[in-house]
Amino acid sequence: MDPRAPIPTRGAVQIRPARPADAAALERFFDRCSPESRYQRFHGATGPTVRRELARITAGSPDHRSWVAVDARDGRTIRGTATLARGHDGEVEVAFLVEDGWTRRGVGRRLFGEMALHAEAEGLESLVARVQGGNERARRFLRTVAPGARTRFLGAGEFELDLPVAPAAQLARLAPVDALDVGASSHRRRAGFAGRRPVDGQVSA
Ligand SMILES: CC(C)(COP(=O)(O)OP(=O)(O)OC[C@H]1O[C@@H](n2cnc3c(N)ncnc32)[C@H](O)[C@@H]1OP(=O)(O)O)[C@@H](O)C(=O)NCCC(=O)NCCS
Repeated sequence: MDPRAPIPTRGAVQIRPARPADAAALERFFDRCSPESRYQRFHGATGPTVRRELARITAGSPDHRSWVAVDARDGRTIRGTATLARGHDGEVEVAFLVEDGWTRRGVGRRLFGEMALHAEAEGLESLVARVQGGNERARRFLRTVAPGARTRFLGAGEFELDLPVAPAAQLARLAPVDALDVGASSHRRRAGFAGRRPVDGQVSA
């Protein structure tokens, strides 16, 4: 990236689905994140477990869909990622990670908005997020981007948030469209279509 490039403005990212070609950029993104943020995203998992999870993000599958927020200045550097993963019980869980120097710029909000529109189009009514007890910023974030979120203590220092899809998707549609946010604006155009029902319990893009 050109070091003389202007300081990024709020939201100077493109949101788009993750793809296999993102693998190296995602590894570099992960390496730039602080140990605390990585811990919060992967709940303490390290080493090969995390590398496998990063590989799942870029590979994608019917039950595991991810998006990346790419720096609009070069179209390559990943600044955040979000995943929708369907568990064996049919629950669809969301997880986020935003690069530390890029937090509080609306990157997480836009990633969540994109996922909410996708979930709505798939006919999903709610999503879940699991957050560690000390991770107050994630709970605040989720309560902001998902109006009507309900929090429940799971034990072992972990909270589960139930996130209704419809109000979050509505918020995403109301958000101002940033000319640089190519992914979100194209998704917003599609968002007027009637939602498709999930096929055989799949989460599909
Ligand atoms: C949680 C996380 C994804 C938020 O991403 P983000 O890009 O900073 O979030 P946004 O800038 O879009 O914030 C949206 C709103 O959430 C709330 N919020 C976000 N971070 C907050 C903080 N540290 N304190 C209080 N409120 C916060 C605010 O209301 C914010 O809106 P505002 O900035 O206009 O006031 C990011 O901090 C992160 O990656 N944390 C580490 C990993 C993690 O905890 N993941 C969640 C568990 S899977």
